[in-house]
Amino acid sequence: MTLLKIAQLGHPILLQVALPIDHPLDDDIQRLIDDMIETMNDTGGVGLAAPQVYRSHRLFVAKRFDQGEDNDSLPPFVILNPVLRPLSDTIDDAFEGCLSIPGLRGKIPRNTEITYSGLDREGYPIEGQATGYFARILQHENDHLDGILYPARMRDWSHMGFATEITHLSKHLQP
Ligand code: NI
Repeated sequence: MTLLKIAQLGHPILLQVALPIDHPLDDDIQRLIDDMIETMNDTGGVGLAAPQVYRSHRLFVAKRFDQGEDNDSLPPFVILNPVLRPLSDTIDDAFEGCLSIPGLRGKIPRNTEITYSGLDREGYPIEGQATGYFARILQHENDHLDGILYPARMRDWSHMGFATEITHLSKHLQP
């Protein structure tokens, strides 16, 4: 496996709509999935989408925050050609970061409950529901496949800052 370089804010691939994967079992795709998992784990990220490693494929990996606190012992969530849908109108605002925008955090509104469907890494259909933090990660990663970075989702630009300063901002934003 290989650690992959991560595209940084400003690289045009991050703004492209990624292409569906027709042949999940191709060696190239299987190797990409393994390398993305290794890269996510190495960087300490909670999710990574293919466009972030310069590959225009509809694919992302994520830590299994739907499986409780001890999610690091589980194989990551892998989905190809995902489709996400909100399960309710409930929206929650919370801070997010992105490996393509290092050091920064922004407060982003996301649906609290969603359904997902797509393919697993063997090409079999998968579907399920996600809530809370895991639902947030899936929406963030899925946005990457449509060329959307989290700043584009911000409702208030004063809710963005460096991670090292966010504790102050969080206090400042308390009602
Ligand atoms: Ni990201």
